[in-house]
Amino acid sequence: MDVVESTSDVFNKVLDWKGQHGRVAFVPTMGNLHAGHLSLVEKARGLADKVVVSIYVNPMQFGAGEDFDTYPRTLDADKKALIEAGVDLLFLPSNETMYPGPSANSTVSAQVYVPELSEILCGAGRPSHFLGVTTIVNKFFNIVQPDVAIFGQKDFQQVAIIRRMVSDLFMPVEIVALPTTRESDGLAMSSRNQYLTENERNKASLLSELLSQMSETVANGADIASIEAKGAEILVLSGFEPEYFSFRDPVSLSQLTHAQKDMVVLVAAKLGSTRLIDNRLFSCETLSNSA
Ligand code: PAF
Repeated sequence: MDVVESTSDVFNKVLDWKGQHGRVAFVPTMGNLHAGHLSLVEKARGLADKVVVSIYVNPMQFGAGEDFDTYPRTLDADKKALIEAGVDLLFLPSNETMYPGPSANSTVSAQVYVPELSEILCGAGRPSHFLGVTTIVNKFFNIVQPDVAIFGQKDFQQVAIIRRMVSDLFMPVEIVALPTTRESDGLAMSSRNQYLTENERNKASLLSELLSQMSETVANGADIASIEAKGAEILVLSGFEPEYFSFRDPVSLSQLTHAQKDMVVLVAAKLGSTRLIDNRLFSCETLSNSA
């Protein structure tokens, strides 16, 4: 595995591979890799001849008071895992490389923003988060020029926003999303799970249980608004601080008042000081999407 820090090193590698008609897959990450990330890499290997992974904790997608400074950084272990996973190129850019702005600490630069989708759900509580995500992912796509990029469906809204960016800006990259990798009790894998105390960790699997139960209830005809209220109430009673528990259309992320064939239920909730998100995509087989 080659490890590079400059954009020109990435350009040259990719140019060389593409000259040999190689297909390039890209997996952007913020490091602290777990089995979920490695499943994305494995998928990437199956979809392309060469795999590029980036590790970069992007300051622009963290708000004031969020965990940018404490976000777990485990580069040595990450490198080892990526070598074992058969990655061809690891890109480790600096802030100066990704944000060559007027001041060294500046995270402000030419920006890419997907309106509306970026302002709902997680975007309501984290107002500039998705601006940071789309800006950095656009930069990465320009540097790596991948044929295909792989993301985890745990960040369901992030994937929907990136798909919209790619479609609206005619970016020549295919977006592939993979199902969430879970711990044995159902908790979605996340680098932030390590912030949980033992007691909180024992409670955390309630999120995925609730998503399964409540999606089944809605698929069986229950009223969506009542189930959303009930979901939020159960979370509060169990010691969570819910931000949203919401049934949405999987593509537009618009709010649902009635069941339709394809639906997603998404949740964000704080447990102690840790903010957790999860979602469940599900179908109501008795309905068609136009119903
Ligand atoms: O999902 C993440 O880890 C980040 O949002 C991403 C896509 C690497 C952009 O910084």
